[in-house]
Amino acid sequence: MTKQILIIDDEASIRETLSGILEDEGFSPLCAESAEVGLTILEEETVDLILLDIWLGDNMDGLTALEKIKEIYSLPVIMISGHGTIETAVQATRKGAFDFVEKPLSYDKIILAITNGLRFAQLEKENKILRDRTSKVTKIIGESEVIKDLKAQIERVAPTDAWVLIRGDHGTGKELVAQAIHRHSLVTDHPMIAVNCAAIPEELIESELFGHEKGSFTGAHSSKRGKFDQADGGILFLDEIGDMSLKTQAKILRILQEQKFERVGGHKTISVNVRVLAATNKNLEEEIEKGNFRADLFWRLNVVPITVPRLCERLDDIELLVRDLMKRLVSRGLGNKKFSNNALRLMKRHSWPGNVRELRNFVERMAIMCPSDIISEEDVTLFLSPGTGAPTPSQHPEAMRPYEAASFKDAKKYFEKEYLTQKLNENNGNISQTAEQVGMERSHLHKKLKSLEISS
Ligand SMILES: Nc1ncnc2c1ncn2[C@@H]1O[C@H](COP(=O)(O)OP(=O)(O)OP(=O)(O)O)[C@@H](O)[C@H]1O
Ligand SMILES: [Mg+2]
Repeated sequence: MTKQILIIDDEASIRETLSGILEDEGFSPLCAESAEVGLTILEEETVDLILLDIWLGDNMDGLTALEKIKEIYSLPVIMISGHGTIETAVQATRKGAFDFVEKPLSYDKIILAITNGLRFAQLEKENKILRDRTSKVTKIIGESEVIKDLKAQIERVAPTDAWVLIRGDHGTGKELVAQAIHRHSLVTDHPMIAVNCAAIPEELIESELFGHEKGSFTGAHSSKRGKFDQADGGILFLDEIGDMSLKTQAKILRILQEQKFERVGGHKTISVNVRVLAATNKNLEEEIEKGNFRADLFWRLNVVPITVPRLCERLDDIELLVRDLMKRLVSRGLGNKKFSNNALRLMKRHSWPGNVRELRNFVERMAIMCPSDIISEEDVTLFLSPGTGAPTPSQHPEAMRPYEAASFKDAKKYFEKEYLTQKLNENNGNISQTAEQVGMERSHLHKKLKSLEISS
């Protein structure tokens, strides 16, 4: 779309010259002889950039106008002036001007300033979208007492350098908690590097965590920084810590204590400073009893324990969660639907063994499968089989209809989800057995389940 540029200058000849230049360059100019007229145009038109004269005769001057514009709009403003002194230029920049061009105007300079200004605005916009997206993804929804308590614990522990062990069932939001701790920490400008200990094959975990030097093993074509290295100065998030082998646990314990390590195949000692957050859905005390988890590592990680409540402990949050989940679906183009009050009441009676992840999948399923805009109690009854949390599509008489509407990608994903959920159920959640039955590598199946958000 043609970019609209507003010229605010009291001299008619300047407005005409600038309009001509802008038209030649493919922009669409708008003209105002005073700041007041300019502000009115801004109210009515979508403007992409402003050229603003500093000296505007007897009316409101350019610097005051700049202040007013910046209060309301986040547009790039380029100041133009025949009386340009360094001082006014500095003043204008302080008030938020993007650039300063002196009269007599040079064609090249003005076009360069405009091009830069527009590019800057575009980048700023993209940046904002990214920021919004991240903040949406990581927000912890809920107002129940248990969630309020969880948020308070996060706020208390986040701005310290304490290590935290995040515990809780599948799909309760442990990863969200880790992200929230990072967001409220003292190292938000450093990354939080996540390592999923369950998804990395045993033989690769050392290289993944500590990095490797070129040629240190078959396939190591170049040297690589490990996650510890990448997290230096920031946070290392060891997710699913309960699935780490005893061998890796021994290795990691030493490195966590010393904050020093060597890359695989390397001799140089690398020192880092990382804060560690770990998460698990396993009962580590039991795992210690069984000999599957090292007690010393447990005590090292468990400086501050935080337990994320199960969804059945905070059923009153369902309404807020559903609203948020629906909003996220709308941003993916899946249609905005509402649950009736009776439907919500019924949902509050379900036990949600898969917690918020199950609720999320359920809301998505309903948004795709239900033909009407209001999801009724009957729809919920049909789809929410008590206890299993994994109803099959054949339970709904109109189950096949969405396949006609959904994209191939969605339909494929849907099928995969249904198929793997069923196979997992048949094998009582045992991943190795399921992998064997469906003819997939265990690690591949694990990754697939993760990406489809199926809790095993
Ligand atoms: N309080 C919450 N507010 C909003 N969304 C949530 C909340 N808790 C969890 N979710 C959503 O539920 C899903 C599961 O959350 P998350 O991955 O953090 O769970 P988890 O405890 O790490 O699960 P697992 O043990 O299976 O790894 C995510 O899509 C997340 O966005
Ligand atoms: Mg997780």
